[in-house]
Amino acid sequence: FRFKLLLIVMATMVVQEAESFEQGNFKKCDQSSFCQRQRNYKPERSPYVAVFSSLRSVTDNHVYLDIRNNDNNIPFTLDIYALEDGMIRLRINELSPIKPRYEVPNTIHDVGVQNFLVEQNPQNQTITLRLSNNPSVSAVVVCDPFRLDIFDDQEPVFSINSRHLLKVEYLREKPVPKPPTEEHENLDNPEEVEKIEETKEDKPDPDDEPGMWEETFKTHRDSKPRGPESIGLDTSFVNFNHVYGIPEHADRLALSSTIGSEPYRLYNLDVFEYDLNSRAALYGSIPFMIGHNAKRTVGLLWLNSAETWIDVDSSEDNKGVLGSVFSYFAGQENVPEVNIHWMSESGVIDIYFMVGPSPRDVMRQYTKLTGTTYFPPKWSIAYHQSRWNYKDEEDVKTVDAAFDEHDIPYDCLWLDIEHTDGKRYFTWDTLKFPNPIKMQDDIAAKGRKMVTIIDPHIKTDSNYHIYREAQAKGYFIQNKDGGEFKGWCWPGDSAYLDFTLPEVREWWASQFTPDIYKGSTLNLFTWNDMNEPSVFNGPEITMHKDIKHGGGWEHRHVHNMYGILQQMSTVDGQIARSSGNERPFVLSRAFYIGTQKYGAIWTGDNTAEWGHLEFSVPMLLTIGLCGISHCGADVGGFFKNPDPELLTRWYQAAAYQPFFRAHAHIDTSRREPWLYDEQYKSAIRGAIRERYELMPYWYTLFYQSHTTGEPTMRPLWYEFPKDTELFAKDDSFMVGSALLVKPIATASTWATQIYLPVTPNCNNGWYDVKSYQFFPSPNTISMATPLAKIAVLQQGGTIIPRQLRVRRCSALMTHDPYTLYVALNTQGKADGEIYLDDGHTFDYKKGVYNYKKLTFENNILSSRSLNTTALWETSAWLERVVVMGTQQPSTVTVEAAGVTTALGYSFDKNLRVLTIRKPGVNLQKDFTITIN
Ligand code: NOJ
Repeated sequence: FRFKLLLIVMATMVVQEAESFEQGNFKKCDQSSFCQRQRNYKPERSPYVAVFSSLRSVTDNHVYLDIRNNDNNIPFTLDIYALEDGMIRLRINELSPIKPRYEVPNTIHDVGVQNFLVEQNPQNQTITLRLSNNPSVSAVVVCDPFRLDIFDDQEPVFSINSRHLLKVEYLREKPVPKPPTEEHENLDNPEEVEKIEETKEDKPDPDDEPGMWEETFKTHRDSKPRGPESIGLDTSFVNFNHVYGIPEHADRLALSSTIGSEPYRLYNLDVFEYDLNSRAALYGSIPFMIGHNAKRTVGLLWLNSAETWIDVDSSEDNKGVLGSVFSYFAGQENVPEVNIHWMSESGVIDIYFMVGPSPRDVMRQYTKLTGTTYFPPKWSIAYHQSRWNYKDEEDVKTVDAAFDEHDIPYDCLWLDIEHTDGKRYFTWDTLKFPNPIKMQDDIAAKGRKMVTIIDPHIKTDSNYHIYREAQAKGYFIQNKDGGEFKGWCWPGDSAYLDFTLPEVREWWASQFTPDIYKGSTLNLFTWNDMNEPSVFNGPEITMHKDIKHGGGWEHRHVHNMYGILQQMSTVDGQIARSSGNERPFVLSRAFYIGTQKYGAIWTGDNTAEWGHLEFSVPMLLTIGLCGISHCGADVGGFFKNPDPELLTRWYQAAAYQPFFRAHAHIDTSRREPWLYDEQYKSAIRGAIRERYELMPYWYTLFYQSHTTGEPTMRPLWYEFPKDTELFAKDDSFMVGSALLVKPIATASTWATQIYLPVTPNCNNGWYDVKSYQFFPSPNTISMATPLAKIAVLQQGGTIIPRQLRVRRCSALMTHDPYTLYVALNTQGKADGEIYLDDGHTFDYKKGVYNYKKLTFENNILSSRSLNTTALWETSAWLERVVVMGTQQPSTVTVEAAGVTTALGYSFDKNLRVLTIRKPGVNLQKDFTITIN
């Protein structure tokens, strides 16, 4: 009976899923009334005026002005703040809203401030605000109509409201409709009545435009109890042709013009089989945009958590419009500009400007505000094996053993929803998983980890401890008129935890200790899926906007933050269960500003098609530029069955992407690497091994990302910012500063063209990492890409570490020897770094790590500690040094702790590659290798 029931439930769910996931389930701008109202707003001149005489310095780092909308006399506040590191913040709110407007809490870090030097010019009613510590940076307020321009080094970089699109829908009382008879009762002249009706049509009631007070999409009615409260504003990137960011979209790296088509949309949604080349919303939302030209890089954060649409206008017609406004461009024609129109359903206008000027500066500034990458445990940046589902303990054991039999390393095995007792998270299906602790211990004995899925929807079953407790405590989101909100998801009828409440997050975090989460161990980590949140029978497969969170806010106000709040408290739970010793690992599907502080994300339900492999590159690059360094795409594609060539190429691309996990839909055929013919299996094994060899480099990059906010996977322009050829390039990417990767994303591609950029004055050149062949740059080369080959080149001027003894998993490599790859530029120089620690605890915070600067110059390779503590003890030693692009030496010696030793070596004349054997020095110690 139980089995039959299960079948019925499953069948209903599949139907439900198929029905709910059709295309057309998601709104276009013209089906969203606020998007329409904002997008149609095109005044000749902005009615918003800043009142010059109202200027006051609230503090030395904060000035204030009144703003008035001359159309309706509604007063607004304008606050401008001077932040550290050349950043400026702008806020516009209603002066006296009839109720508070939503403000995003706890997202932006308390950054330092600095003073403004204020200069008023009453004649032309402008106010110049110069940053005292970054005097090249200033903001100029133009009062009538209101405009704000931001300059660096005299050069205008941002112009705000220069397109007159500022529009804040003030909060208002719902108009009471007058019965038409009443209106006309004193008018007995029918012509007069007609006239009145005509004027009414010409001038719609500003308080009652369509969709302001309620809106219906498909069968779902949004009751909009607060009425209209949307905000809109234009921000122009002056002298830029290219802008990037605002994930998540299955789109190219450089954002495209949306004029005449749909705007980009930010609204966390569970989208089934998403389309490519699209601006439609996906699982995550980060309203951060970067502008880049050959001279500078700038960033802009639109702080908002509600549904947001963004028009990007980079059309030719705009050229020279702002150029003619600023004297800086005198004599220059056609100065480009990209005009952005931000439209959010609610909130206040709150923008952070970053003036760079380099890509690194922008990432530093942005991550000062939003946080840098969490420091992932080392195993989590190795290879992960997942599918929906590994069926039972026997399956887990067999798959785990097969990796060893086939000599393929992996670090973590994942269990999807079927491991639970009827999709009750934190439980086990005891028939399939009778001994979960033993299962985890067996995996952990080999140095590996496991992950279970824990979604935010909770089965409404009073025998289920999570539901019972959360219900008793009143922790679920409520319907708009009270009572627990119930939606449909994997378990059937489900309630949704209100993660906006600190007490709910605390309680959720407490569920992760092994005494509460029965069957879990400290080697079990977490996957938070479906946390947009996904509601199968809700509007756009998510939650109704008008339902209530604690604190009285509607879901519309907080929607894009729901997922991050779940991930954040899961992270807290994992840290707490080890009393703060072990680093957490939590994968989330939904994401938001600052997700990088908590964990990793992946690009959701992609498809086993070449196009999806291709688009994984721009998608991950964009996500990385918006702060989230630990990101990846399901290897092989989630839906459908990849042919073996596609699967192989996917492994090869992902081996060089930050989060490296194979995953597949329950309906797909099994696709573990050993199920394929030898040539594919061995190419896949080769790709995974390349990842493991490169783990020391990846780990160093993640440490750097943790400390500096730089992405691990980067667009080419990030490293070669002056090369205009690269600004729209997204078929290849950099891993750190050293490696350029060109994935093969089309079938039967046995050779590929690769563009190799150059750093001016450095003539870096590039080396094929496998053959050591040298290519001068700039250059477009053709590289043979037989099935087993990944096109990867090391930039001249860089040093990277590898560990060549590939083991079953990364934990077993901790104290293994290292090889350094020194790729010389044409001046015979190179440098790099290496970071070493235990790989999983927080001890690095106490200085228990070794961070080394590696420098090659004048034929001397030296390693010097960058941290004074350097307390991590390791027996890891230097096994080999490969120097590319050098001369035949006569002697090679190593010096460490005052002792000098001669070393053996070999030299390849044709390739000019020197291989130095067994320097033997401990990696912890400083050393010098001299080549004579
Ligand atoms: C949707 C996720 O995107 C997918 O990765 C997962 O396998 C299914 N949910 C089932 O949990």
